[in-house]
Parts: sequence; C-alpha cells; structure tokens
Amino acid sequence: MIILAVESSCDETAVAVVKDGRTVLSDEVLSQADMHAIYGGVVPEIASRSHITVISRLAQSAVDKAGITKKDIDAVAVTYAPGLIGALLVGVNFAKAVAMALKVPLIPVHHVRGHIAANYLAFPELEPPFVCLAISGGNTIIVDVRGYTDMSIIGTTHDDAAGECFDKAARVLGLPYPGGKPMQELAENGDDNAYNLPQGKIHDHPYDMSFSGLKTAVVNLVHNAEQKGEKLDRAGLAASFQKTVSQVLVPRTMAAARDLGYDKIVVAGGVAANKRIRADFEKACRDEGKQLFVPPLKLCGDNAAMIGSQAYYEFKRGAVAGTDLNAYATMEIDKLIL
Ligand code: KG4
Repeated sequence: MIILAVESSCDETAVAVVKDGRTVLSDEVLSQADMHAIYGGVVPEIASRSHITVISRLAQSAVDKAGITKKDIDAVAVTYAPGLIGALLVGVNFAKAVAMALKVPLIPVHHVRGHIAANYLAFPELEPPFVCLAISGGNTIIVDVRGYTDMSIIGTTHDDAAGECFDKAARVLGLPYPGGKPMQELAENGDDNAYNLPQGKIHDHPYDMSFSGLKTAVVNLVHNAEQKGEKLDRAGLAASFQKTVSQVLVPRTMAAARDLGYDKIVVAGGVAANKRIRADFEKACRDEGKQLFVPPLKLCGDNAAMIGSQAYYEFKRGAVAGTDLNAYATMEIDKLIL
C-alpha cells in the first residue's frame, strides 16, 4: 500500500511517500526554522502562510523522487492534531483536496503517534509492546504502546515540555532558536556538576514530570549573574541543565518499562536527538538488559515519513476520514476523533 503523507503541524512542511508502513520511498522536509529564528520562537501566522506557499511543490517533488506517479497512490495521510491550528489546517485541507482528486482514502494521523512510528521505519524488526518516551517541543509523555494503534499515556509533564525547556533555557543564554542543539554543543566542554539544578517531581505520580522549576532556575541564575556583574560558567550551566533533564526522563521511563514488564524502550521526538539523553538511555538499558530503540537524527525531528508509517496501521484499524475532517490544536494520543 503506497501512502502519500503530509505533515504541517509546526514549522516544518513535509511530504513523504511510504510503502506498507515500513519503507520510505521519498521524504521531503522543508524547515522554516530560519524564518522564525529572529523572533526566538515559532510565529504561527508565518508558519501557516509559509506552508501554503510550498506544500504543493513539495508534494510533487515527493512523488517524483519516489519514482511513482499519482495513479500509484493508494491513500493520503495527514497530521490533524496536535499542533498550531493554522499550520495544521494547511496540511489537512491540502490532503483532503489530493485525496478527493485521486479518489483515495484520507487517513488522519496523530502527530505524536507519528513520532513513535519513526522507529518502525528505522528498525524493521520493532513491534509493540514497548514503553515509549515521546519528547518534543510540545510534548513530553511516557506511553504504554500495547499495539500499533492501542496505547495510553502513563506519564506526562505537568507544565513545560522538555524541548520547550531546552528552547527557553537556550534563549536566556543568548543561543539561537531552536535551542536544543546549540545547548548540546555548548554543554560539550562543560562540567555537568557545575550547577545543582532542581529536578521537578510530582507527588504520588512516579512517571510524571515537571520542567518549569528547572527553566526558572536557569533564568534566575543567568539574570542574577548579569545583575551582579558576575561571570557565568555558560558551558557548565548547559551541561548541568542537560544532565538534569536526562535525570528526569531516563529513570522514569526505565521504571515504567520495569513495572509493565516490557523489555523494549523506544525514544521518539526532536529531543531524542540529544546526545546526553541518548547516552544515558544506552547505559541504563545496558545495565538492565533492555533493548533500546532511538531513531537516527533525520527521523527524530518533524517529518512526513513517520506520518506515512503510522497511517498504514491507522488504516488497518479502519481510521478513514471524510471531507469534514477538522484539525485540533490539542488531542491526547489515546483519545482520537476516529
Ligand atoms: O519533534 P520536534 O522536531 O517538533 C515538535 O513536534 O515539537 O521537536 C523540536 C524540539 C525543539 O524544542 C528542539 O530544541 C528540540 O526538539 N531538539 C533538541 C535537540 N535537537 C532538537 N533538544 C535537545 N537536544 C538536541 N540535540
């Protein structure tokens, strides 16, 4: 089954062609990051307008690079939630038009389910059940993935997402947006014991997390140093910050896998690109004899190939939308519209 998949939930316009949920025939991604960088974050209006200008050429390019014609497309898939509403609507309406013109089914896909599915593309042998930590700019959740489309959230952040926390901490340190990678680079020569930063704990919810206290601690450290004219150990702060984020994420995910009796741990989303977090997971999984799956960097960030992969499994359970498909800014991974 050949699926043309569309992703436009934030600041990447992406179209891909995926075969049978596991084979990527083409994967076109156009990032708008440079356009938003001067504002220090994504400007929703700019994101929506930019998607409109490129989406149809990108789709043509995805079809051409896949070596297929439009007649070979069996279904169109699209991210319909969660994300920036105006940005999502561009992809949803484009996908509706293509599905209608080609007279093929339209498959709605939850963005974070797509991030998890990025691992099916990277690891052909991977099958549920497993525990997944999905960490991106907008989401930080621990998911019990019982089947390809059967999953529930067992841990979540009570405030900021891990990626958001990286971006805000980077901004106060004067680093460019998105801040995850620049923070990682700054941390490379830093002492991760330089600063003692708070790890947000949620009482009585062992898998839940909080990142707002950590973000505030970094902001206060930087502002206090500025006000007192003291020199800040920037690399040490970045390294300590990264270590603290990892110390929140890794033990909770490992505990969830232990409690559920799973031997596979999957990490997904943009923050999964982080070297420190990857290394800490590798060590923890080695120590506990668990298998670790983390996608290659290209599949960590937003892309449409992951949407095409998940769409294959959503279609198998019968999730086909009509022309009344809407987009939703928020939607839990286990509470879908179809
Ligand atoms: O999954 P993604 O591309 O978009 C969303 O769906 O949100 O994730 C973007 C997030 C941003 O917050 C970015 O700073 C973070 O992923 N990120 C990283 C790294 N690369 C990207 N965070 C930490 N370390 C990285 N190397």
